[in-house]
Amino acid sequence: MRPRYARSVQFEQALTPTVTLREARLEDAASLAAAYRRNRSHLEPWDPARPPSFYEVAGQRQMLATRIAAAETGEGQPFHLVEEGEVVGGISLNQLVRGPMQKASVGYWVDRERTGRGLATAALTAVVEVAATRLRLHRLEASALPHNAASRRVLLAAGFSELGSAPSYLRIAGTWQDHVLYHRVLD
Ligand SMILES: CC(C)(COP(=O)(O)OP(=O)(O)OC[C@H]1O[C@@H](n2cnc3c(N)ncnc32)[C@H](O)[C@@H]1OP(=O)(O)O)[C@@H](O)C(=O)NCCC(=O)NCCS
Repeated sequence: MRPRYARSVQFEQALTPTVTLREARLEDAASLAAAYRRNRSHLEPWDPARPPSFYEVAGQRQMLATRIAAAETGEGQPFHLVEEGEVVGGISLNQLVRGPMQKASVGYWVDRERTGRGLATAALTAVVEVAATRLRLHRLEASALPHNAASRRVLLAAGFSELGSAPSYLRIAGTWQDHVLYHRVLD
């Protein structure tokens, strides 16, 4: 019997007159590696420590291939924000679980030069809709470092609510760090 939901989605939505949100593609590798190099100091405080290959085209091509293959088997779904053909942000559904949970964890970033224009809020709002209507998930979860004020604003603006604090939750920038947990029930 075919499932009622899509395993991976082809998706495209304009977030602004110039920025589009769409599924991640293998051909984004060069632009994505360039975006990560350009945004290294912007993202490092909020991300796991990255290996040198993360900033190279071949490394990104390999990581994208793995993530796209995982999307095809229904384990997650990566999306990119694209402006004039260049990747200017990303948002992903990770650790997608079916069975009685029907949930995924969401993470995102926006190019430093393009922050403060509502892009992350618009992207997260669009991904919530895809998760509910195309992937038919029941719940999305997210976590933020307590001092990541911008990310916490984005989560609240997209309808997430705060669940509480998780000590030593994720290893970020090489250190186990406490996080604030959020979720949004979709149905
Ligand atoms: C977090 C991030 C994705 C936000 O992207 P963005 O496109 O600027 O987000 P938006 O413009 O949609 O919303 C940002 C909100 O945070 C607020 N904000 C920004 N900096 C802030 C600060 N230092 N203190 C308090 N609020 C802040 C903005 O005013 C806005 O809220 P408002 O709409 O109520 O005015 C971006 O800053 C980023 O990529 N950060 C690094 C990676 C990261 O932290 N990812 C999330 C990990 S949980």
